[in-house]
Parts: sequence; C-alpha cells; structure tokens
Amino acid sequence: MAIRLGDTAPDFTAETTAGTIHFHEWLGDGWGILFSHPKDYTPVCTTELGRVAKLKDEFAKRNVKVLALSVDPLTDHKGWVNDINETQHCSVDYPIIADPERKIATMYDMIHPNALDNLTVRTVFIVGPDKKVKLSLTYPASTGRNFDEILRVIDSLQLTANYSVATPVDWKRGDDCVVVPAIKTEDIPAKFPKGFKEIKPYLRMTPQPDL
Ligand code: BEZ
Repeated sequence: MAIRLGDTAPDFTAETTAGTIHFHEWLGDGWGILFSHPKDYTPVCTTELGRVAKLKDEFAKRNVKVLALSVDPLTDHKGWVNDINETQHCSVDYPIIADPERKIATMYDMIHPNALDNLTVRTVFIVGPDKKVKLSLTYPASTGRNFDEILRVIDSLQLTANYSVATPVDWKRGDDCVVVPAIKTEDIPAKFPKGFKEIKPYLRMTPQPDL
C-alpha cells in the first residue's frame, strides 16, 4: 500500500555508501529526506545528486539528514560518486542506499512499473522528527527535481511545527505567513508579537515569525 502523509515512515536497515544504516536510529531526533533516482550513471540523476551535495549547508542549517536510494549495487555507487564529484564540482558525502533487491524501493512504493520498468521513479519523502511522513512527491525519470522547492517545503513544515503558521501560495522566505485556523483571533496578539492583519476572519496574516 502507498505511504501516505502522516504515516510512520517504514523503518529499514540498508547498506549504503557510508556503511550500514538503521533508518530511524540514523534519523535521530532530526528531520530527514529519503529520495530515489532511477539508475546510476545516468545524466539527470548525476545533476541531481551533485546539487544535493552542494546544498549540504542548507540541509544542515535545517537539521535535515539526506539519504539517497538507487537499485544499483554499492560498487556502482562508489564509481559513480567519483563521476558526480568530477562533473558537478562537488563532494557527495551523504549516504546512497544500494538496493539491488529492491526491498526498500518496494517498501516505499518507489517502483511504478507502468512508468519505468523495474527501476525507481524520482520520489522524495520528507520525514519529521516524529518519524512521520510530512511530504511525498513523485517525478518522472526525465524531469530533474527542484531542490530549492524541497528546501522551501522544509522551511514551511518547520514554521508550522514551531510557530503555528502555514505558508500561502508561492510563499518564499521572508514573506508573510498565515496563522493556522486552530488559533483563535483573540489569542493571536500574545502568540505573534510581530502583529497580524485580519483580511477575513479565516485569513489572518503575520510576518514570518523566526526572522
Ligand atoms: C536520467 O537520470 O538521466 C534518466 C534515468 C532514467 C531514465 C531517463 C533519464
């Protein structure tokens, strides 16, 4: 069955380029991203893994650990990482799962055989400190993902978790946020010292609280 938002991310033990990982234990009490790509030594994947390596500081700032998955074996991963580092001018130092038996890919429903035969499509799962799935997305093999968007979602999720705000359409860092409906208007001033604007009783905006 597909994994849905709010489900506990299934735990697993995996062989990776950084040794054996027990997923939940490895996540600790921080956030995590698990993402799959179809195959080693392919062009779009090469650019994606390079980009993720270059975003290392951005993920660290947000307390997010990154874990990639591919159905190829470890020996392939190790050779391919050299190519990624060379061509994308980066240093891939996050772990890549080797899943040649497709155990984890199957567990996470990453194989969509009508789209791509026996390889994983491009999925992303964002997992919160409570080990619940906060976002899942699925892209076709031919479209590289936008990791700026993934960082944007993490920022939004963390604002909601820490400050009871949601983020409106096309929100970007620094824009006003939406006070979540669960907060009564009379309780807003105490909770949001930067002020708020009531556009409608159900639409209350406040400056981004953590800036
Ligand atoms: C790629 O990463 O370039 C790719 C992989 C599988 C199918 C199409 C593209």
